[in-house]
Amino acid sequence: MSDEPQIPETPEPEAARPEWRNFYGRRAGKTMRPSQKTYLSEDLDSLTPRGITREDNPEREIIDPASIFGNDNPIWLEVGFGGGEHLVHMCARYPQVNIIGCEPFINGVAMLLGKIREAGVTNIAVHPGDARDLMDVLPEGSIAKAFLNYPDPWPKRRHHRRRFVTQDHLVPLARCLQQGAEFRVATDIPSYMTQALREAPKAGFELTAHSGTAWDDWISTRYEQKALREGRTPDYATFRKP
Ligand SMILES: C[S@@+](CC[C@H](N)C(=O)[O-])C[C@H]1O[C@@H](n2cnc3c(N)ncnc32)[C@H](O)[C@@H]1O
Repeated sequence: MSDEPQIPETPEPEAARPEWRNFYGRRAGKTMRPSQKTYLSEDLDSLTPRGITREDNPEREIIDPASIFGNDNPIWLEVGFGGGEHLVHMCARYPQVNIIGCEPFINGVAMLLGKIREAGVTNIAVHPGDARDLMDVLPEGSIAKAFLNYPDPWPKRRHHRRRFVTQDHLVPLARCLQQGAEFRVATDIPSYMTQALREAPKAGFELTAHSGTAWDDWISTRYEQKALREGRTPDYATFRKP
């Protein structure tokens, strides 16, 4: 028997019902350490941009992303940062860039907050929720680079429509990206990469690189380490918004 939760399929494309959105991943996991609870209560609020959630911005008014950081530096986006190792690494490596990370899994958010304290990075904002809620309210062409590292694989064919590399996610992402912006995808699931290579161009992206060699500034993530331990092979694609 499947150990996946029995959740009904999406009855119609989300674009047809923008007020209604399914999220199939996990929002909370096992018990957190007391230190992680402290990070959440002390640090998260000041790192969280306003006007992203439906409760905070029911009219879905477009936000001013520069006001999040108080400067005009380029803004990058990481979707599903997991434990935050790549996100913090990129913030430390590129101090002249601001990065917004999205992650609905609160235990991952708590792990990120610990890493932010350790690294002392300040060019970071955290949306502890679905990236689609952020993309709704970002101005067109406001993001200079986007990362999708080891997205949820949804291995069963009938669940492939839940993957991030579907038009429901890629079209809003393309809208938020600047002309010439890079969109990086890393995965260890061959059918995921096949779907990304097929769907991203339909959403307006062009493929600029695809190989088993990671980017020069890559840091291996927790899910990549798990994939390597379990004998799977990382695969990396770079798209560009023309
Ligand atoms: C397999 S994990 C990979 C985490 C991390 N990027 C890594 O490589 O270790 C995928 C993550 O994407 C998050 N995720 C799934 N759908 C998302 C969405 N719509 N917006 C933001 N994050 C999402 C999940 O909660 C999960 O933590």
